[in-house]
Amino acid sequence: TPSPAHLADLVVFGGTGDLSMRKLLPALYHSDRDGRLAPETRVIALSRGGLTDADFRGKVDAEVRDSVPIDDLAVWERFLGRLHHVSVDVGGENRSGWGTLAGMLAEYEQRDRVFYLASPPRTFGPFCREVHEAGLVTPRSRVVLEKPLGQDLSSARRINDEVGAIFDERQIFRIDHYLGKETVQNLLVLRFANAFLEPIWNSLWIDHVQITAAETVGTPGRRGYYDHAGALRDMVQNHLLQLLTLTAMEPPARNDREAIRDEKVKVLQALRPITGGEVDRFTVRGQYTGAGDMPGYLDEPGSTPPTEASGRVETFTAIRAEVKNWRWAGVPFYLRTGKRMPYRRSEIVVQFKDVPHSIFPGGAPNRLVLRLQPEEGIELHIMAKEPGAGEVTLKPVPMSLSFGKTFTARVPEAYERLLTDVLAGNPTLFMRRDEVEAAWRWIDPILDAWKAGDALPEPYPAGTTGPAGAHELLGRSGRAWHEEEL
Ligand code: BG6
Repeated sequence: TPSPAHLADLVVFGGTGDLSMRKLLPALYHSDRDGRLAPETRVIALSRGGLTDADFRGKVDAEVRDSVPIDDLAVWERFLGRLHHVSVDVGGENRSGWGTLAGMLAEYEQRDRVFYLASPPRTFGPFCREVHEAGLVTPRSRVVLEKPLGQDLSSARRINDEVGAIFDERQIFRIDHYLGKETVQNLLVLRFANAFLEPIWNSLWIDHVQITAAETVGTPGRRGYYDHAGALRDMVQNHLLQLLTLTAMEPPARNDREAIRDEKVKVLQALRPITGGEVDRFTVRGQYTGAGDMPGYLDEPGSTPPTEASGRVETFTAIRAEVKNWRWAGVPFYLRTGKRMPYRRSEIVVQFKDVPHSIFPGGAPNRLVLRLQPEEGIELHIMAKEPGAGEVTLKPVPMSLSFGKTFTARVPEAYERLLTDVLAGNPTLFMRRDEVEAAWRWIDPILDAWKAGDALPEPYPAGTTGPAGAHELLGRSGRAWHEEEL
């Protein structure tokens, strides 16, 4: 049962939007059902919508109930009862909503307050200013920022300054929902609660690392956002670099917020910059084209017609990164992510070096695969002898751990974990300002070079593993992407 210290009012700006309906409210319902919400917790959605509490509850009942799914109607009713709605017009003339919100929060002044900004980043600064002017920021307040945190280093800094003018860094929780995924946290346990891996977790034993986040979905209805984001900003700057830091970081001395984040920042700072002419050699961009009944990016249905920016945006990217430090020098970290790939799969593949001297024909190097989705698991691909009395024939076989089969408990969604941590005030799984900025510092020169050049992304048919360039990126050093069939 949560301690009274975790009793908080959760104020969600953008509370009737897509993220709130698809992720936050279902996660909160599950937390409620599992007893992780203090009994009097309130969820106050803010939007321009002019809804009453009853309207909002009805909307959530209609739109969220089927996706959760509800196994206990009484808990669902209790959960709906926690929901409130206040209309605010951030950046507008009408300030009356702030007064209403102030009145509600004043009923329980001793509670923690969490302001969750599930809204575009341009609203972060104005929201913080207005919530401050309304006198609602107490020492026990926190603010949660959704990605994307800016478009580049300078806009990220501006946002961080604007939010930092109102909230202390210790009150600011920057979400990267990949950090809430079970396997991601398991990576730390695998590395630092087991003795056998750490001695070989370095350039002496590891040939290269591959980090893939492949999605089957396209971008229908998201052009307005995606044209100006692209895969590099949408997935690499945050999710993939986070996976890289956890794979590459040094063992922290303690399992605490600053110790872990300190080590992660050091990895980002050690990333070898990819600049100028190197960008073409070490990065690949792709954009999907129509195939079968799947439309191409430019033909996706959406509220805005394609523009010149649409033709230039990458829906796929692959990058050869390198961490320049004692442990990793010379080990490529290949990152890849794309929409409309043939499978939905996120994984980290650590490929070990080949045996120093082979006495059998046909061996292949060991691979450790950490799968985040679709099913969480860890596989070690080892060489085994195929049964038979004739010649020795080698076959790579997986020693595998499936979390689903090993642990019977339901695997919580990333947002459940992260919301629980926000309510408890634990920032370990959230990005610190210097982390976000270090990530942008590495991304910026790649964006600049892409922008400066005339080349368009390489086309790849929807439903394939990306453009030819992505395969050449590894192929030129005799390597290949891990493409095991599920
Ligand atoms: C989001 C991106 O951050 O992550 C989306 O904006 C992407 O474009 C999503 O689809 C992927 O998340 P997950 O958890 O499905 O891998």
